[in-house]
Amino acid sequence: MKTLVFGLGFLGERLLRAIPDAMLSEADITDAGAVRAAIAAVEPDVVINAAGKTGRPNVDWCEANTEPTWRSNVLGPLVLSEACADLGTYLLHIGSGCVFYGASPHPGGWREDDSANPISYYSRTKYAADILLSARPNVAVARIRMPIDTAPHPRNLITKLAAYAKVVDVENSVTVVDDLVKALAALAERRATGVFHVTNPGTLRHRDLLAAYTRIVDPAHRTTLIAEDELVTLGLAVKTRSNCVLADTRLAALGIHLRPIDEALEDCLVQYARHRAGESA
Ligand SMILES: NC(=O)c1ccc[n+]([C@@H]2O[C@H](COP(=O)([O-])OP(=O)(O)OC[C@H]3O[C@@H](n4cnc5c(N)ncnc54)[C@H](OP(=O)(O)O)[C@@H]3O)[C@@H](O)[C@H]2O)c1
Repeated sequence: MKTLVFGLGFLGERLLRAIPDAMLSEADITDAGAVRAAIAAVEPDVVINAAGKTGRPNVDWCEANTEPTWRSNVLGPLVLSEACADLGTYLLHIGSGCVFYGASPHPGGWREDDSANPISYYSRTKYAADILLSARPNVAVARIRMPIDTAPHPRNLITKLAAYAKVVDVENSVTVVDDLVKALAALAERRATGVFHVTNPGTLRHRDLLAAYTRIVDPAHRTTLIAEDELVTLGLAVKTRSNCVLADTRLAALGIHLRPIDEALEDCLVQYARHRAGESA
């Protein structure tokens, strides 16, 4: 399947490596002419939007930089979806489960069609794009959570948590990137549309990830666990972070299944340890 990826960040670069023959467009996704020219030149079966403002060093950046954030996270996806519709191409947009804050209104986690309650500016822009894209006939939104990957990277949840001296002990749905790659391929094969929660079955507490990290990757690793509200009161973040559990109702209905999180995490950490050992050799 001919794939064109927009956005050369953590996930864009990772998808380019994982998807056979995937190509990259470096076009600004808010530039309709450049986007259209890129898609027309490649004539892909599927476009993946991995572009967006996620903030550096973290999403707090978006609170103070609302103009570039809404342009890249709302306007850009709309430009891409219109160009794809006009050129008969299917669009997979990477959304985020961080549009949900706290406990779901019913057991089993937040569902794709639940109304979200985003707090941070970043989350609000992600939700705005979801609402608009979810009604498009050629678009799927893959909402992911806290990506976990096999190699060290500042955006990999394993690397992030291992680097913090203090970590909030919260429970979340998470997405293992190897499983994300397979789920995106399966969605594209079906040309499925609407919003999908692409998270591994089960939930993960940060303390359990770090315990597995200490067991498999670095026996000398130590962390102090703190309560969720201390993240802001201790000045470690400006805005409260989304913590939530998602239900993957729509993906399962299509027969697309990710590995249970315990199994996928163990596999990821074993590979992560090998990468780390290779880097320090
Ligand atoms: N990583 C996560 O924890 C996570 C979780 C859930 C969802 N997501 C979503 O997944 C997508 C990719 O995230 P990521 O982790 O790969 O983030 P990332 O590393 O920040 O990559 C995003 C890339 O998009 C680029 N970009 C921003 N605006 C653009 C524009 N107008 N045109 C073209 N490129 C643009 C960025 O360039 P600049 O740096 O120059 O702006 C960056 O290279 C985002 O939509 C994000 O919301 C990520």
